[in-house]
Amino acid sequence: MIDLNEFSSFFVANWKLNGDFKFINDFLSKIEIKSKNKNCVIICPPSVYLNYFLKKNKLYHIGAQDVSMYEKGSYTGEISPKNLKDVGAEFCIVGHSERRQYFNETDEKIKIKISNLINNKIVPILCIGETQMERELNLTNKILKNQIINGLPKNSNHTNTILAYEPIWAIGSGSTPSVDEIESIHTFIRSIEDKFKNFIILYGGSLNIQNYKSILNINNVNGGLIGGSSLKIDDFNKIMSI
Ligand code: PGA
Repeated sequence: MIDLNEFSSFFVANWKLNGDFKFINDFLSKIEIKSKNKNCVIICPPSVYLNYFLKKNKLYHIGAQDVSMYEKGSYTGEISPKNLKDVGAEFCIVGHSERRQYFNETDEKIKIKISNLINNKIVPILCIGETQMERELNLTNKILKNQIINGLPKNSNHTNTILAYEPIWAIGSGSTPSVDEIESIHTFIRSIEDKFKNFIILYGGSLNIQNYKSILNINNVNGGLIGGSSLKIDDFNKIMSI
């Protein structure tokens, strides 16, 4: 498994269901990753392209956007953690709100996926976040705590798992929490249990060239999970160069 301690910041490009060979070739011809700084750049394209990415360049890492909860067998259409490891994936997003919302992803399934990923030496990136309604009802901390406690298996710890705080209402909307809110929520996450104190915690949700400096400079934010802006190579290059 990759040693997370080697890096000071993490930039995860979540391409969702976007990109094709033409787009990827253009993206890769323009991507700028400085080898001297300790940024960990993780590109998460649709899984069929993972291996193509790996063959092109060594300065970024590749990650999947989801994984099967099954290890093998008669599960047509699924991709196992071992399949991901075989094609060179070192990371895998798990529990993204779009999967929770559209694909019936529960904390129970997420927990199994995370445990299997860790056993296959792939770092899971667990996404957690509240809806607009939950935020208005002051339930954010309760929701996040439940998602963390119910989603993380026993074998998960700060050396093999990453957390990403992604308020659902902020994803793709252009709105974000204030810097103070993000800071206090990340502080809350670290306080849930002693073992969360040292977790890498990313922020995600409308991270863009307008707001990346103020958000990524928050003390207890260890990087970003970037959707829309990771598809704009000039913006992504700027964000990564912080
Ligand atoms: P966004 O997406 O940056 O487009 O808001 C983030 C995500 O869904 O991971």
